[in-house]
Amino acid sequence: MPKADHLRIALASRPDGRPAPDNFRLERAPIPTPGEGEVLLKVLYLSLDPYMRGRMSAAKSYAAPTEIGAVMEGGTVAAVLESRHPNFAAGDIVLSHSGWQSHALAKGEQLRKLDPAAAPVTTALGVLGMPGFTAYAGLLTIGQPKPGETVVVAAASGPVGSAVGQIARINGARAVGIAGGPEKCAVVRETFGFDAVIDHRAPDFAAQLAAACPDGIDVYFENVGGKVWDGVFPLLNTCARIPVCGLVSQYNATGEFEGPDRLPVLMRQILSKSLLIRGFIQREFIAQRPDFERDMAAWIASGAVKFKEDIVEGLERAPEALIGLLEGGNFGKLIVKL
Ligand SMILES: NC(=O)c1ccc[n+]([C@@H]2O[C@H](COP(=O)([O-])OP(=O)(O)OC[C@H]3O[C@@H](n4cnc5c(N)ncnc54)[C@H](OP(=O)(O)O)[C@@H]3O)[C@@H](O)[C@H]2O)c1
Repeated sequence: MPKADHLRIALASRPDGRPAPDNFRLERAPIPTPGEGEVLLKVLYLSLDPYMRGRMSAAKSYAAPTEIGAVMEGGTVAAVLESRHPNFAAGDIVLSHSGWQSHALAKGEQLRKLDPAAAPVTTALGVLGMPGFTAYAGLLTIGQPKPGETVVVAAASGPVGSAVGQIARINGARAVGIAGGPEKCAVVRETFGFDAVIDHRAPDFAAQLAAACPDGIDVYFENVGGKVWDGVFPLLNTCARIPVCGLVSQYNATGEFEGPDRLPVLMRQILSKSLLIRGFIQREFIAQRPDFERDMAAWIASGAVKFKEDIVEGLERAPEALIGLLEGGNFGKLIVKL
């Protein structure tokens, strides 16, 4: 008899614009039984990330969409309940990609053991995981900040943006953060140590950004697009580097973008200022992962990098938390505790 009470959240329908709670469906099922080479996992923490909005859409992207009726995907920290793999035993804590569910089967080869004594296990989903690595690889490989240069990043209180600014400062650059609201701005300046921070909701946002970047912008780490990009664009210096990491302000957009066609202006500036604009998906830099793990662990230990987590309790709250993440409702790395 399969054990009952496996809780999971499936994609019920595709959103048109902003996701709604009824795009998700909470389901119950029997707890599965592991086969040879598999382990049964109890999910402890689920990472919520902006890319999940893309998976909810059928539009062509760098990864296949989640099928209607399938469990929402996501990175997880889990405990091994039962193992039929020689490298894992009940009680081990692992990093897995089990998605939005309480229990899951996984092949041993898909798992990485975590040492809870080395770092809080949630950091494997944030500062020591995919978002931290995204900041590290994108900034150092494409942005290449130099001492004295100005690095600008938005979503600066989140896991990617906060790491970008702190790594920029470790490399001797000035970090200017952009965040939504006074509370987030205070944390970006005081906890993460950015040199300046601007609230993108301020009516004079572009003027404040210009004042905070008196020598222009050498590296703009693009996380959001939209109005923030409009403020950044005129301030870019000759040979500025722009790692294009995300465009979260557009993830819920529908239809055509408003306004005149600005591509000719952009192309002229790319040419006349020798701009480097380079999109990336973090996994293309996977060879740098061991360097990242070594450097980031040392920076956390020395206090050079700080991190902030936003923990929401209960799998059933994941849909509302993801909807909020796309609009700035989170404050730090968003994680669901099951
Ligand atoms: N390329 C890759 O491989 C890769 C990997 C990981 C993440 N990413 C991207 O990196 C970016 C940051 O990810 P994260 O996990 O660190 O997210 P996050 O910062 O925890 O959350 C997203 C943040 O975006 C900001 N935001 C939302 N709408 C905005 C708008 N209209 N204008 C300005 N800011 C807005 C909000 O912060 P405020 O309240 O401060 O505005 C929100 O908290 C996202 O674009 C994500 O897609 C890319």
